[in-house]
Amino acid sequence: MKLKYLIGRVLCILVFALYSSISISETIAMIGTGDLGRALGPAFSNLGHEVIYGSRNPNRPEIQQLVRETGNGASATGQSEAAAQADIVMLAVPWNAVEGLMTTLGSLSGKIVIDPTNPRMVGVDGLRDYAVSPSNAEWIQRWAPDSKVVKAFNTMNWVTMVNPQSAGGSVSVPIVGDDSEAKAMVASLVEGVGLHPIDLGPLRYASVIEGMYIVWGNARTLGRPFNYFFRPQEN
Ligand SMILES: NC(=O)c1ccc[n+]([C@@H]2O[C@H](COP(=O)([O-])OP(=O)(O)OC[C@H]3O[C@@H](n4cnc5c(N)ncnc54)[C@H](OP(=O)(O)O)[C@@H]3O)[C@@H](O)[C@H]2O)c1
Repeated sequence: MKLKYLIGRVLCILVFALYSSISISETIAMIGTGDLGRALGPAFSNLGHEVIYGSRNPNRPEIQQLVRETGNGASATGQSEAAAQADIVMLAVPWNAVEGLMTTLGSLSGKIVIDPTNPRMVGVDGLRDYAVSPSNAEWIQRWAPDSKVVKAFNTMNWVTMVNPQSAGGSVSVPIVGDDSEAKAMVASLVEGVGLHPIDLGPLRYASVIEGMYIVWGNARTLGRPFNYFFRPQEN
């Protein structure tokens, strides 16, 4: 069992090293043009990827402006059209929009689906709660069973993503998913934008990462904000 685990870890590291060392240009559909899409779209484009924004109204002047600022062959179209053209689909939309979106987005079979969604459920005491059980990410995997869902980018705000140094130092991005290659690809995006990916295992641990957002957000509400940094143990 231990040997199997070790072989799995070594394979993960090799795949990640491969993605990091050769710069592979992917087509990324950024579904949603809110704060997160506007932050990560240009950042992914700067890494050499082609970004296609998927919007309910792609002809809005501010989206055309975003496309110009993103550069590197970026474009904007409808949400399902963007997803259809992409290898990687990022669901940068509010969690409560995702179920409906999954019925209109078309087939995501074989694609990497990045799930950055958070519940944004606030109790009467002002503190956050989970939206669903077992987790947003596992529901997305159920709605798109042949896709490769990776949970990532949900435990910090977009300001930290585009400028990690504004957080005062290194920031970790926990990642979970069931497909090693998909996780390695997402890890290379995380690393590319200057953050530190940390693989926390299969998708069944997504609720842990979603819980990390809950305590991260609650700490801000309570006036004692922090950011995650996982310091690797040397031996
Ligand atoms: N903002 C952050 O710092 C941050 C950080 C970590 C994780 N997240 C998570 O990332 C996701 C996106 O965050 P955000 O702040 O960018 O969200 P947002 O501003 O509330 O919405 C993002 C975009 O989603 C699209 N959208 C909105 N309602 C929709 C609907 N009913 N159906 C389909 N598309 C819809 C819109 O784009 P169009 O008008 O172009 O269609 C909108 O601009 C959320 O789940 C959030 O929890 C956000």
